[in-house]
Order: sequence, then structure tokens, then C-alpha cells
Amino acid sequence: GAPVEVDISKIEPGQLIRVEWRGKPVWVISRTPDMLKQLKEHEDQLRDPQSEEPQQPEFAKNPMRSRKDDIFVAVGICTHLGCSPSFLQGGFGEKVEGTDDGFFCPCHGSKFDMAGRVFQSVPAPLNLEIPPYYFIDDTTILVG
Ligand code: FES
Repeated sequence: GAPVEVDISKIEPGQLIRVEWRGKPVWVISRTPDMLKQLKEHEDQLRDPQSEEPQQPEFAKNPMRSRKDDIFVAVGICTHLGCSPSFLQGGFGEKVEGTDDGFFCPCHGSKFDMAGRVFQSVPAPLNLEIPPYYFIDDTTILVG
């Protein structure tokens, strides 16, 4: 499939833009300072907090898993059995323990943080997939 260009000039803090790349949903999210702060607060609850798993781009092998701190890009497919997780802002609420922002898969309850890192004690084995991408300029991303 062809690379996909994403215009992020109008993205608001906390907003998610969904595009399609190679038939997969790709999310581009503007992480707020609070979302970035949360990433440091629950690392002991994650399966792979440093994101050391080999099957991902080099720039994703760290806790932020992104080229820029505030802009997060991920494939929006659960690594368990491929359902589509929901972006939950303002916390997981009663569904899962904890109050952080993140992604919740309704199929079997897997939970990922704002870097797509999977929590322990859920069925998904791996962090969310990070696609290859780069910034053409400050407001344009090329996915693929
Ligand atoms: Fe997401 Fe099973 S497919 S938890």
C-alpha cells in the first residue's frame, strides 16, 4: 500500500485523528502534558514498559514510543485477537482499575496506556503496533 499523508495542523490537545493505512486503522493523537505525565506513573503495571520487544521501529523502543513526545502514532488494532480498542479520555472508569487515559478493548478487556503499552493481567500479549512514519514538516506526517 501507498504511504498516507496526515495533516496535523488542526489537531487539538487530546484529539485523535484516524486514518487508514494498508487497510489498518492508524491513530494520530496529540498527547496532553497530563497524558505524558501519566506514562511515568504506572510503569510497574506494564508488561513491557521500556518497549523492548523487537518487532517494532527503532524509535518505538522506549517508554514514549514516538518520534515526538506530544504526537503519538499507533495502529488501532488490539494485539490480542484484533478487535478495535476505544480511546478513553478521563480514565478507564469502572471498566478497569486505575484512572489513566488510554485504550480499552471491549472484546476481552485489554488495556493500553497513552504510549500503547499493554498492562499486565489483560489478555493482549504485546504493546500496540507502531507503524513506520516520519514528519515531512511540523504539521505533516507520512505513515508508511
Ligand atoms: Fe482485544 Fe481480546 S481482542 S482483548
